[in-house]
Amino acid sequence: MTDVVKGKSKEAFIAHFGCEPEYLSYAPGRVNLIGEHTDYNDGFVLPCAIKFGTALTAKKNGTNKMRLLAVDINNDTDEFECSATYTAHPTKTWANYLRAMVALIMQKGHKVEGLDVAISGDIPLGSGLSSSASLEVTFGNLVSQVFGLNIPLQEIALTGQACEALNGCKCGIMDQTISACGKADHALLIDCRSLELKHIPVPAELDILIVNSNCKHALVGGEYNERREQCENAAKIIGVKALRDATMDMLNAKKDQMDEVTYRRARHVITEDDRVLKAIDAFKQGDLAKLAELMYASHCSMRDDFEITIPEIDGLVEIIRKAIGENAAVRMTGGGFGGSVVAVVEPAKVEQVKAAIDAEYEKISGKKATIIETHAFDGAAFTKL
Ligand code: GLA
Repeated sequence: MTDVVKGKSKEAFIAHFGCEPEYLSYAPGRVNLIGEHTDYNDGFVLPCAIKFGTALTAKKNGTNKMRLLAVDINNDTDEFECSATYTAHPTKTWANYLRAMVALIMQKGHKVEGLDVAISGDIPLGSGLSSSASLEVTFGNLVSQVFGLNIPLQEIALTGQACEALNGCKCGIMDQTISACGKADHALLIDCRSLELKHIPVPAELDILIVNSNCKHALVGGEYNERREQCENAAKIIGVKALRDATMDMLNAKKDQMDEVTYRRARHVITEDDRVLKAIDAFKQGDLAKLAELMYASHCSMRDDFEITIPEIDGLVEIIRKAIGENAAVRMTGGGFGGSVVAVVEPAKVEQVKAAIDAEYEKISGKKATIIETHAFDGAAFTKL
């Protein structure tokens, strides 16, 4: 897939700008295996980069303007002056991530000049597989590399996170970090407080299956930021810096000082952090039964305590569990309110799962699901053409 979007971007660049591009930048989307809504609580996450992503081809244009072509959004275009002041475009939300990235990089004192850029990506929008993070990371890395700014990839990830905040979503650091720093055949354990990274091998005998419910998820909305506030409030009541520092005993000791919803939000985060650390051992030992137990517990916690699943997603998880039988490692992945489900499966079970989804999902949702088979891919890459 990577090569397809790179080729599409280059072709469109030549057709639109009338010359050959000089640079190619790419960053993948992600699927999170376990550790949901733990990142902004200073906790742990375990995502991996997937085979879909966003490719940019570009060339310096000798002006102070970024001139952009979005191949997959009906060849929509935008242009803006490079400036340290961020000014949002009223309708072109895709371009606002790039406007924000330029402004934030320039605020650090870096000099940035005009580029012509053609963008092409194949992460289904609204699938919960981080299309915006991959756009931020690939563009931040492009600007850094073309202008010799030497911004480390983890700093580009942090800048991408700040772009999201400028656009209304107070997200954590997971999506941008895995897009920037992913490694083929490995999941990435991110300590979201220290930002320490550990690459964890994904057992070669297991496949990663992503099932897009085709119920679009959108994080720029109240629900995500509301969850974050509830978690911060719980941490304050418990008397810790972030929920990462709390245990279930500490939470229970303060149970009567918080409302029931706040209690459940905190319980999700505290137990989820614990599940991530246990999942690392399960991965290391290739223990699919343990992984299945942890992933399903994660799903139930997202459904019942954090309340971020929707009936179609819960239905998909149950269809896949029934199809796999024992050792069904499956859960919703990503921010929630729609999006995708992830399953870690033995290759021999893939066809069974596909058949069950084809037979059952439309009945409960009125929609068809999209099944994506992937493994773990490398993170961001830049090439001078
Ligand atoms: C979104 C956010 C991430 C993370 C997940 C939930 O993908 O961008 O920072 O909070 O939701 O785990």
